[in-house]
Amino acid sequence: MIQSIWKMKKVLAILLALSTLSFIVYLTIGRKNVGSIHKYTSTDDLYVKEKTKLLKNDLQEAATKIQELEEKLEILETRIPKKYPEVKFLNYLKKKRILVTGGAGFVGSHLVDNLMLQGHEVIVVDNFFTGRKRNVEQWIGHENFELIHHDIVNPLFIEVDEIYHLASPASPPHYMQNPVKTIKTNTLGTINMLGLARRVNAKVLIASTSEVYGDPDIHPQPETYWGHVNPIGPRACYDEGKRVAETLTYAYAKQENMQVRVARIFNTYGPRMHMNDGRVVSNFILQALQNEVITVYGSGEQTRSFQYVSDLVDGLVALMESNYTLPVNLGNPVEHTINEFATIIKQLVGGHSTIKNVAEVEDDPQRRRPDISRAKNILNWEPKVSLNVGLQKTVNYFRKELKRFKHSHNKSSNFL
Ligand SMILES: NC(=O)c1ccc[n+]([C@@H]2O[C@H](COP(=O)([O-])OP(=O)(O)OC[C@H]3O[C@@H](n4cnc5c(N)ncnc54)[C@H](O)[C@@H]3O)[C@@H](O)[C@H]2O)c1
Repeated sequence: MIQSIWKMKKVLAILLALSTLSFIVYLTIGRKNVGSIHKYTSTDDLYVKEKTKLLKNDLQEAATKIQELEEKLEILETRIPKKYPEVKFLNYLKKKRILVTGGAGFVGSHLVDNLMLQGHEVIVVDNFFTGRKRNVEQWIGHENFELIHHDIVNPLFIEVDEIYHLASPASPPHYMQNPVKTIKTNTLGTINMLGLARRVNAKVLIASTSEVYGDPDIHPQPETYWGHVNPIGPRACYDEGKRVAETLTYAYAKQENMQVRVARIFNTYGPRMHMNDGRVVSNFILQALQNEVITVYGSGEQTRSFQYVSDLVDGLVALMESNYTLPVNLGNPVEHTINEFATIIKQLVGGHSTIKNVAEVEDDPQRRRPDISRAKNILNWEPKVSLNVGLQKTVNYFRKELKRFKHSHNKSSNFL
């Protein structure tokens, strides 16, 4: 048996050798014959023209082949799975479907990271007024993630277990840019989210603000303080908008027997803050990084307390998971004057900026510091990140952003 296979293999090898030999003979003798039909010489015009035409055809063919290959390569590249941060596995009993409105914004995107890493399904709804796709690009395409371009002033019909309602411009230049829209987002938008929560029986957390205390006349501010707000001032669209959002939340809770949470958020900073939001931290860091004058509004003796964004996110998640319904302050009680902030940031960044006091801003609160006893008692929460650590991370972020900005600016000016 084995011998006959060997014989067959020998025959096949001989046949193969014969056919190769005849092919070589054909190539050499056949080609010569073709040449003899035309009898071209290298100086012949016709010969050169014919050769050029053949070469052009060959080149055209090669270009088409390359294009085909490139298209195939593109298709293959899209099939290569994107590398996502590793998320926990949750079984269907523990896995929640969570809506984050304003999830492409500064705070929202960090909250999305936290919820995704925990293994939940997250749906972001954003109209990209101040938010950016880039803030959540790390999750785009992930099976647990969905991004919906939608303005919450219009109703939304989806199925969810929890809603973190953060959509609203948050910095003065942004919310003053279109005050009517700011009010609509915080009133109509909040009604839409509360209505959605009622329809699908979801728990809802509203992102309120320390601005509901206005320019406070008690210090530090506990949740029991009713505030001191100018209802017709330039900040009213935001302050009063958030106050109505709180009122709506408790009206729905009482009337519809819903589970609600209200976080009164104090000044927060960290990576993914806007470059142009006009807030103290971003302003000072950007001025210091560019060796510009650091501008302090007013005397600089007004105080602020700033929390790092990861502390806030921990607080929001703890509040949602708690059984507590009344408003809870989330902020860092360590208070500094604006002058102190300017000096700290200047030292952290280095460079040779100077600090200058300019005219004060209308309705600028003089003191702002949270009383966080409630958050400590109810949620067992308090900020962990020190100012120096948080600021260093933020400075690093802005340094990269500036480089990126300069790079894209140079690139686009090259096209002009
Ligand atoms: N960052 C702070 O210091 C701070 C302090 C107090 C309260 N808050 C509250 O926290 C929330 C988030 O603030 P942030 O600092 O991340 O602001 P941000 O501007 O970075 O994020 C807000 C997000 O909401 C989106 N948005 C605005 N209007 C919308 C609309 N009509 N429909 C859909 N999306 C809309 C924006 O595009 C953006 O992505 C806000 O509600 C803000 O009032 C923030």
